[in-house]
Amino acid sequence: MFPAVSLLTTLLLTLSIAASLVEIRNSPITLPIARKLNVSNGTINLLERDKARVAAIKDRSFSTLNRRAGSIPLINEAVTYIAQVGVGSPATTYNLVVDTGSSNTWVGATTAYVQTKTSVNTGQPVGVSYGSGYFFGTEYTDTVTLGSGLTITSQSIGVSTPSTASGFSGVDGILGLGPLVLTEGTLEDEPTTMIPTVTQNLHSQGTISEIVVSVSFEPTTSLTVTNGELTFGGTDATKYNGSIAYTPLTTANPALYYWGINESITYGTTTILSATAGIVDTGTTLIYIATDAFDKYQSATGATLDGTTGFLRITSTQYSALKNLDFNVGSNTYVLTPNGQIWPRALNIYIGGSSSSVYLVVNDIGTTSGQGLDFINGYTFLERFYSVFDTTNSRVGFATTKYTYATTN
Ligand SMILES: *[C@@H]1O[C@H](CO)[C@@H](O)[C@H](O)[C@H]1NC(C)=O
Ligand SMILES: *[C@@H]1O[C@H](CO)[C@@H](O)[C@H](O)[C@H]1NC(C)=O
Ligand SMILES: *[C@@H]1O[C@H](CO)[C@@H](O)[C@H](O)[C@H]1NC(C)=O
Ligand SMILES: *[C@@H]1O[C@H](CO)[C@@H](O)[C@H](O)[C@H]1NC(C)=O
Repeated sequence: MFPAVSLLTTLLLTLSIAASLVEIRNSPITLPIARKLNVSNGTINLLERDKARVAAIKDRSFSTLNRRAGSIPLINEAVTYIAQVGVGSPATTYNLVVDTGSSNTWVGATTAYVQTKTSVNTGQPVGVSYGSGYFFGTEYTDTVTLGSGLTITSQSIGVSTPSTASGFSGVDGILGLGPLVLTEGTLEDEPTTMIPTVTQNLHSQGTISEIVVSVSFEPTTSLTVTNGELTFGGTDATKYNGSIAYTPLTTANPALYYWGINESITYGTTTILSATAGIVDTGTTLIYIATDAFDKYQSATGATLDGTTGFLRITSTQYSALKNLDFNVGSNTYVLTPNGQIWPRALNIYIGGSSSSVYLVVNDIGTTSGQGLDFINGYTFLERFYSVFDTTNSRVGFATTKYTYATTN
């Protein structure tokens, strides 16, 4: 499933333009990302799942220390962004959720972990609770393969089983792309130990020169499509326009534990959220903003909170009058157009909505602003902008793409 051609193209591109384009660093590794909506149950429970995750993120309770028995709801993945990752030698391929909001990489939720000559059982219990699910298991170190044969040796992975993981039906685990600090507390017997992430090991083993991961998502109206791309060690200049603008990581707690940044949000000419801290997260589907900002957005758009879906709902007439939602980051403004603010209408039935209504992808984070994590720019933001998660330089970058102004929704 890793087309050799894409790696070849990347390498050729690197060779041909490396001298002139600093964005392409040495040996970027690109992986396709598939998006899947699981509608096997008629509708998807994405809001319920997102909100459980949002609550856990705000509490910073992604740790084994918080796995109090019985308190964790089972909410299956509704919308997933999956990369195929090989583990072992010969490698078994696992479908892993691409998650910048957590940092442990683990397998075994569906396909059983296959031990090979490279598997080493460290004997350490490991686990993470995600709000919308959890895994427990044993830590192994093993060879991890990304893309066409690029390997990480002795990568720590969590090995779970279908009965010790919850909320991950249809996927095998997580490829954790968050900051190192989020691994603290996940090894049960060594609560202060941090586990080097996949991106960090690629760097320490000399495969990439900077600890950077870049993500390209594209809007879609399909239930299943492979239209995303993950690049380790650099950026892929074929996926964005102009240059990438960077903003420093935020110092505000608890956003600082994630890919946290500062931004303000404007609807039309009205500031709905003053400059404050929040996070960028591939594992959250919608955009969440503080309750006071959400209330202002609702009244400015004239939207109704729809009891069936939990989404804000507007009429076609209100949609015609919808203004831009501007995300102001440093001196740059990222424009979420009216079309970028709505759930793809072709997929309305899958959120339990009506095909004649228009639903907004902005929702309520559940607390008022000023709490150190006042927004989550989730997938519905990231499908309109290229994003760069840069540990080496402690910054997050965004660039516009050909989908920034797309009207596919
Ligand atoms: C399917 O959805 C119904 C209604 O939301 C829910 O009660 C049921 O538990 C779901 N089934 C599964 C297998 O998730
Ligand atoms: C889809 O979700 C249902 C529960 O609603 C689950 O039983 C099933 O395994 C999931 N399938 C896939 C392919 O994710
Ligand atoms: C970001 O916002 C927080 C909270 O408003 C503030 O304390 C901090 O100084 C700002 N700047 C950075 C770089 O964190
Ligand atoms: C850059 O923008 C132009 C005009 O919108 C578009 O045609 C082109 O495909 C974009 N390139 C990339 C890499 O997104």
